[in-house]
Amino acid sequence: MEKVIINDQIVNRIDAKVDMNDRGYHFGDGIYEVIRVFNGVLFAAEEHLERLFKSAKKVNIDIPYSKDKIINLVNTLVELNDVETGIVYFQITRGSAIRTHEFPTSKTEPVFTAFTANVEVPEKELEKGVEVITTEDVRWLRCEIKSLNLLPNVLAKQEAAEKNCYEAIFHRDEIVTEASSSNVFIVKNGVVITHPVTSQILNGITRQVVLNLCEENSIRFTKKKYSVLDLMTADEVFITSTTADVMPVIKIDNTVIGTGAPGSVTRNLQSLFREKANKDTKLVV
Ligand code: PDD
Repeated sequence: MEKVIINDQIVNRIDAKVDMNDRGYHFGDGIYEVIRVFNGVLFAAEEHLERLFKSAKKVNIDIPYSKDKIINLVNTLVELNDVETGIVYFQITRGSAIRTHEFPTSKTEPVFTAFTANVEVPEKELEKGVEVITTEDVRWLRCEIKSLNLLPNVLAKQEAAEKNCYEAIFHRDEIVTEASSSNVFIVKNGVVITHPVTSQILNGITRQVVLNLCEENSIRFTKKKYSVLDLMTADEVFITSTTADVMPVIKIDNTVIGTGAPGSVTRNLQSLFREKANKDTKLVV
C-alpha cells in the first residue's frame, strides 16, 4: 500500500486528507522541493533541505521541523514505498485558514505533505539529446524562491509539449534566464556558461553539482548573463534538473545547435555526474 506524509505522520495514500482551506490551494502559498532517489538513496538531500529552509524564510513560513527530522521522515517514506529510482516531492504551505489574502491572524500551523514516485533516468533522451523552444520569461522577480506558484512554468511547458519539445527556455528581453523546470548552460569555445545566481533564476542543486564538477575537473566555466543569440549560436547547450540530469539540447526553435548531436563537454559532464550520483548513493555494504 503506497504511503504518503502529512505533517509528521506516514499514512496510506487513500487515507490522506488535505483541508479545502489550505492556502496552497487558494494562493499557491507555500514552497516545495524535489529530491532524486538513485539506488534507493536520496541524492544531495542536505542541499535540497538547505534551499527549502531558505525559501521558507523568504516567505515567512516557519517550518515546524528540523532538517534532520524531515530527512528522516522522507527516508522512511522512500524505504516504505520501496523506491529504487525515483523522486520524493514535498511541500509546505502556510497552513489552513479561512481565505484572506494577508497571513491568517489566528495561529495557523504550516502543512507538510510528501509523496514518492518511480521516475526512471531518461536514458534515451540523455543519449540522443532533446529539442526545446524559447519563450518570454513572464514570471515574477523572486524566482530564487522555490514557490508553489508555477502557472507561468506550467504554461511554458505546455507550449513546449504542444510542439513536441522537451522543455521551454525562458528569456527576459534578450537575456536567457533558465527553463520552465531546469537550468540552462551553453558551451562556447570550450567554456561552460550559465546565468549567475540572482533572483531571476532558481539556483538548481544539479546546477551547483555540475559547476562543482567543472571546478574539480578543470573544465573552464563562467557564471554570466548571455543572450538568445549566444544560445542559438553556442557550440553545445544542455539543461540540468533533478529529473533531467545533464540533458543535451540539440535543437532550439527548429534551429540545429552545434553539430546536431550532444557535444564532448556535455558528454564529459554527463559521465562525471553519473559517477558522482552513483558514488554518493551506492550503499556501502
Ligand atoms: N524543478 N529551475 C526551475 C524553475 C525548476 O523548477 C527546477 C527544478 C530547476 C532545477 O533545479 P534542481 O536541479 O534543484 O532540480 C531550475 C523541479 C525538478 C520540479 O519542479 O519538478
